[in-house]
Parts: sequence; C-alpha cells; structure tokens
Amino acid sequence: MIHIDCSDIKKRLSDSEFQKAWSKAEDSFLKIQKGTGDGSEWLGWRKILADPNDAMLEQLDSLATRIRAEADVFIVCGIGGSYLGARAVIEALTSFFDSESGPEIIFCGHHLSGQYLKELVEYLEKSNKEGETKSVYLNVISKSGTTLETALSFRVLRQWMVNQFPEDVNDRIICTTSPEGGALNELVKANGYSKFEIPEDVGGRFSVLTPVGLLPVAVAGIDIRTLFYEAVSAFEKLEDNPDSLLEYAACKFALHEKGISMDIITSFEPQLNFLMKWLQQLLGESEGKEGKGMFPAVAGYSTDLHSIGQFVQDGPRNMMETFIQVRKTNERVTVPGSDENHDGLDYLFGKRFDEINTKAFEGTLRAHREGEVPTVVVLLDELNAQHVGEFLYFYELMTAVYCYCLEVNPFNQPGVEGYKKEMYNLLGK
Ligand code: PA5
Repeated sequence: MIHIDCSDIKKRLSDSEFQKAWSKAEDSFLKIQKGTGDGSEWLGWRKILADPNDAMLEQLDSLATRIRAEADVFIVCGIGGSYLGARAVIEALTSFFDSESGPEIIFCGHHLSGQYLKELVEYLEKSNKEGETKSVYLNVISKSGTTLETALSFRVLRQWMVNQFPEDVNDRIICTTSPEGGALNELVKANGYSKFEIPEDVGGRFSVLTPVGLLPVAVAGIDIRTLFYEAVSAFEKLEDNPDSLLEYAACKFALHEKGISMDIITSFEPQLNFLMKWLQQLLGESEGKEGKGMFPAVAGYSTDLHSIGQFVQDGPRNMMETFIQVRKTNERVTVPGSDENHDGLDYLFGKRFDEINTKAFEGTLRAHREGEVPTVVVLLDELNAQHVGEFLYFYELMTAVYCYCLEVNPFNQPGVEGYKKEMYNLLGK
C-alpha cells in the first residue's frame, strides 16, 4: 500500500484555503468520472483498468517468455511517454547490477546522439558470454511512428537487424503503436512484425499500463499481472473513496494559488530515479500550460543534497517538496568496524545502511520543513510490483484531478510543438 502524508502542507494552509481547494478537487474528480472535462476523449487510461484485457496480458506474457529465453539483448526504442514508464518500473524493480537473469535491456530512441548509436551497434556486434553472436530483439514504441528521435534510431537499428539476422529479422522486431494509421503500421503490414496496440484514447504519458510499458517490463521478468491488477484495485478503491487523493490534489492546488511554482520530487532510493522522471513528465506535460503549473524538478537524495541542498534550504521560498520513500528495504548491509576510526564514524559501527538512510531522510525532512518548504511524503510499504502498480495509477489520477483544479487540459501538450516547428525548419523539412 502507499500512504500519503500531506499534514505539513495542511498546517501551512488556513481552513478556508484548504476547503476552497478541496471543493475544487471534488468537482475535478467528478468531471473525470463523468467525462465532462477538457480532453475527456483521452480517458482511456481509466477504461483499460475498468475493463481489463486478460487476453492482451496473456499475449504479452507469452512473447516476453520467448524473448527471455532467446535474447541476449532486448532494445526498447522510444521517447517521452513511450519510454519513461517502462524504464521507471524496470529500474525500480530489478537489480542494479544483475545481468544474469534474462536479456539485458537497453534503451534508445530517446535522444539524438550519434555517438550512442555507434557505440550501441558496436556493442551489439560483440559476442555474448558464450562467444556467440548476440541474439537481439527490438521493440520500437511510438504512437505516431514519426517522432524524430525514435524514428531515426529505429532506422539505424532496423537496418542493422536486417543485415545481422537475415533469416528471422521479422520475428525479432516488435512494434508498439496506434491501432490504425501512422508510419509503423505500414511497416508492420509490409513485414509481418509483431504488433501491440496503444489505445487511441490513451496519451503517451498515461500509457505505462498498456503494452508500451508492459512488454518491456514483462521482458525484464517483472510480474505484469500483479502490476496491472494492483492498478485495477487502486482504480476501484479510489472510485469509492478518493479522499487521500483529493486531499493531495487540493494541497498542491492551494499551494499553487499561494504562489508556489516548483515541486521538487525526491527520494532517498536511487532505484526510484526513473520513477521520479516518469512523474516529472506526467506532471510537467500535463500541468505546465497557460502560464500555470509548478515546475516539476527531480532530485535524487542524498546525492543531490550535495548539489542543490543549499538552494532548497535557503533559496527563494517558492517551492514544495515531494518525498517518495520506501518503508521496508531488503538489504541488510551494516557498517563495518575500522581499527583506526580514521573517519570518526565508529559511532555508526554495526548500524544498517537502510537505518542510516532513513535518518538522512528524516533529518532532511525536518530541516527543509524548518526552512519553510511545504512537504508531502509518499510512502510505499515495499518496493514491489504491487505497490508500484498502485503508485502509477494513483499519480495518473492525481495529476488529472490537480490539472482540472488549475483549469488546464491535462491531456494535450500544445507547447511541445514550438521547439519541433523551429527544429524542423532548421532541418529543412
Ligand atoms: O506524453 C506524450 O504524449 C509524449 O511524451 C509522447 O509519448 C512522446 O512524444 C512520444 O510520442 P510517440 O509515441 O508518438 O513517438
């Protein structure tokens, strides 16, 4: 289960500030339930949970099992909402270093670095541990099929795959794309690649619980049924009792109305760095419109306390902070003794690292609160597929409710077109 503690923010709001924001959050939730808000044609991320497609989960699982048995490397080619969710879940739920269980998962298509592609191809061409040619599968994920970073990387890699695996290349390429139209559907038709659909009414940043996120996650060996069905159960629970979510959305909205313009999303668990980046995109592309919204910054603590800690403690008081913590960790590493006590840290002898990390969190929380930074704490009981599934849906819904409080459409991203137009002009499109 995840627990949300907004008490610090509530203490900083008057009763009437909070009540006003709460009523707005209630209205916003109703708009989502009734489908009467701006962009309500994009509520497919709720429909997939209201009416789960078991056949699709089965199909994803069986392909993932085959790929896990056959592949040395599984490449995921996508960007933005077609990339961050899969990476977030995989990094949260797999080991930092273990490359033994299942294929190595490599992400590409999320930038325009030629150096990266060159080195990737060189790496793929090196033999595997058994001295054989690496077996590679490629999952290109793009709803439009024309996103520059993804499409160009896919061009390079598809060409390489055709040369490298002339016998069975079509079985090794999997396209995740929109049901109809788009550039990838033409290639699927022409070559018989496997295809998974991104429902038309699900936007990129709300698509982690569709094949966009679920196929790579299943290939990583994570139980997608648990992940998905925990999101389903979060959906059902929140339909009946959304109070914790409404309180959170109301608190964020009330702070926004008081001039808070930045939300620093942080965690003391480095496995959560990409979950925070997923959240950054979900919030950023959804709320930053019409001059409104809080800039969602991401900071990995305690690492970044050594870079931006000063700013958070003492800089302009225009920020809130969202701590994402895990209650129970599995490691039991303890601090060893040292003959000379050369670093003066013998007082920590025998203490577990997770205990020390928790004290670092508690100390930071206390200091930042004293420094007048309003904070919310989001606590996952454990880092597993169950709690991550719940987390994903909770934040999708919270984001939509909060955006309706701001009176912006959570589901479009008109501003992203600005840089694209300039870039395409320069590239001579
Ligand atoms: O959230 C979004 O809609 C975007 O981040 C898209 O996911 C991203 O631009 C990739 O788009 P596409 O899947 O069409 O390649």
